Amino acid sequence: MNKPNRVLVTGNHGYIGSVMAPALARAGYDVVGLDADYFMECTLVPDLANIPTIVKDIRTVTPADLRGFDAVIHLAALSNDPIGNLNAEWTKEINLDGTVRLAQMAKDAGVRRFLFSSSCIMYGMSGADTVDETSPLAPETEYARSKVKAEAALRELADARFSPTYCRNGTIYGLSPRMRFDTVLNDLTARAYTTGEVEISSDGTPWRPVVHVQDIARAFQAVLEAPLEVVHNEAFNIGADKLNHQIRELAEIVADTVPGCRISFKHESGADQRTYKARFAKFAGAFPEFHFNWTARDGARELYESFKANKLTAADFNDRRFTRLRWLRHLVDDGRVNGNLFWSEAAGRAA
Ligand SMILES: NC(=O)c1ccc[n+]([C@@H]2O[C@H](COP(=O)([O-])OP(=O)(O)OC[C@H]3O[C@@H](n4cnc5c(N)ncnc54)[C@H](O)[C@@H]3O)[C@@H](O)[C@H]2O)c1
Repeated sequence: MNKPNRVLVTGNHGYIGSVMAPALARAGYDVVGLDADYFMECTLVPDLANIPTIVKDIRTVTPADLRGFDAVIHLAALSNDPIGNLNAEWTKEINLDGTVRLAQMAKDAGVRRFLFSSSCIMYGMSGADTVDETSPLAPETEYARSKVKAEAALRELADARFSPTYCRNGTIYGLSPRMRFDTVLNDLTARAYTTGEVEISSDGTPWRPVVHVQDIARAFQAVLEAPLEVVHNEAFNIGADKLNHQIRELAEIVADTVPGCRISFKHESGADQRTYKARFAKFAGAFPEFHFNWTARDGARELYESFKANKLTAADFNDRRFTRLRWLRHLVDDGRVNGNLFWSEAAGRAA
């Protein structure tokens, strides 16, 4: 089969999508986006390209929206753990039911490949071992459960004409137009730059696999271009073994990068000590040519340089626009989205 050419990227206006969709367009793909545009006002740096976008909720897509695509890259989701605590039903409806509905329509429309943006968080954070794709899944939050259940449902759809792939990402960092400061390295670097202090509530020993957003974009492109037999109905941890870091190391990298900042470890008894390290051998074996270009150190440097160039302030860092949970809560409180997280007719997107 020829490589896919026409690709629908859902969630293309989010943190990952606003880097990935332009990267795919630059690589020669005919890219169309689909996004509910919850975060269009949450822009830190200008968009990299103007990708034609269907402004729509994935819960209301129709078969016509899916027709003519060779592949769907499905990024659209409520993407962090605490949002599930705000309203578990939204996470289930969008991340699970919305995903299954979208995939079923894609399959019916003849879309061949479906890349699902999943997460290593589904292994839980017992800290027991290094986790790989064969490890038991132990989701601890509504968000993580939505990823586990969505993968399971997508497996049921896999057959000779529909090839889902489950891309289980580590925690992502790096500059994006739709910036998030609620992921670990982005948070630490922005905090250090705007306040001069990095206070870690734990003792800094927990592990996290981290990956740069541009490397994620390239890794998804590699999956998109892989022979179907390599990726059909397969899960891959996306990252590299050397990108597992202890929070302490990440904080030290940030302290080396941001002049004059101080780090402290508070060793609080109730601090988040959950930890997990992922193994990435399966991805490395399937994609031997692929190289993760970014290190956490390069990423902290990129963020620091961009914060300097854009004169990031503490007010920007604390602004609700860059924390997904706080922005969604704001949209709800202002009545701009309704209780089901659909834009309100009167006071919605244009407000
Ligand atoms: N950022 C990370 O560290 C990370 C790690 C692992 C997995 N992921 C996964 O990658 C994907 C993208 O993450 P992100 O960081 O870019 O998140 P994000 O919140 O920045 O972007 C998500 C995008 O999806 C859109 N969206 C949300 N609900 C929608 C709906 N019902 N209909 C249409 N569009 C909708 C939003 O408007 C937004 O543009 C998610 O599936 C997330 O779970 C992210």
